[in-house]
Amino acid sequence: MHYSDYLQLDKILNAQQPEGERLGEPAHDEMLFIVIHQAYELWFRQLLYEVDSIIGIFGQPMLNDNSPELQTIVHRLSRCATILKVLVHQIDIMETMTPMDFLDFRDKLRPASGFQSVQFKLLEARLGLKYEHRYGQQYYLSQLRQPEVDRIKSAEAAPTLLELLNKWLERMPSVWTDVDSPAGTGDSWFPDYRQRYQQSLADVEKGNLEYFDSVFSGKTPSSGEAQPSRSLSPLACRSALFIMLYRGYPLLQLPFQVLHQLLEIDEQLSTWRYRHMSMVSRIIGSRIGTGGSTGKDYLASALERHHLFREIAALTSFLIERRRLPALSVEMESRLGFVVAG
Ligand code: HEM
Repeated sequence: MHYSDYLQLDKILNAQQPEGERLGEPAHDEMLFIVIHQAYELWFRQLLYEVDSIIGIFGQPMLNDNSPELQTIVHRLSRCATILKVLVHQIDIMETMTPMDFLDFRDKLRPASGFQSVQFKLLEARLGLKYEHRYGQQYYLSQLRQPEVDRIKSAEAAPTLLELLNKWLERMPSVWTDVDSPAGTGDSWFPDYRQRYQQSLADVEKGNLEYFDSVFSGKTPSSGEAQPSRSLSPLACRSALFIMLYRGYPLLQLPFQVLHQLLEIDEQLSTWRYRHMSMVSRIIGSRIGTGGSTGKDYLASALERHHLFREIAALTSFLIERRRLPALSVEMESRLGFVVAG
């Protein structure tokens, strides 16, 4: 096997065709513009490949929480986060192009735009961004070809990583609640924790208890205000909270890493959105995008609205200090993987 044949370099290295050259008005920076977008698309391809494989494992009905599969999920999630860090840094290269350099070829691109990146939209959809939560619904598919729209719609209809995470978390309480619950009285750990959380609140934070009850028990706040629809159920949130609080126990270490890596991915994706938006503002100011959106304003709203795992991140509001945590029974400790001496 020859290096260039294996990598199909004849295809990849002949795929840079600047419009300026074709039209007899070459613009030096158009090559950079093409190469950087292609590099992004290749990394999006790898990200989708990893995310699909993670969804495949997470979708198994009996995923064991202490198994090599969970280890594989953590490893691949962490690879995704690392790739995203590289994607954030690539913006530095794009920013070596000045606004005037861009103007030399910008109009030749219309209406092409990163907005038409099918892989980016697929990635958002597979991770968990639903159509109803999207900002800019009126134009997010408008620039795409019908087969591309169909692919995105079917990704939105399939189980997403966020939905599978919810199911997995909902299954977990069997690991911890049953043990401490006297027969027939249900879960005893949770009311104890709620009381300790309440005691930890400063006077000005007392309202947080209603928020706590809406997240973990699904209660409507006394204001009666309609709550935004949530992706994680109260049961799933209790599990995620428990994992965060007792992550030192062997059985919870991998589940904690799953949550941690998802937050890392969300943060890197948001950092990319922020860096891309700032770059756009620096390069085209308040002009509309070539893809037909409002440009910077659209990107600012997408940054604000398209956080995928914000419900996990928000659970940090409900943590209390380690030394105030309810102690776990010996039986529960051994179930969570601690070998009790004696
Ligand atoms: C000169 C550099 C760039 C400019 C001025 C620019 C501008 C824009 C603008 C204005 C939008 C909003 C949609 C629209 O076009 O109306 C957008 C969206 C987008 N751009 Fe760029 N972009 C640049 C570079 C890049 C690069 C290197 C990538 C890498 C793939 C990229 C990927 C995207 C993506 C994925 C979106 C959709 C974001 C979302 O819907 O949240 N852009 N870009």
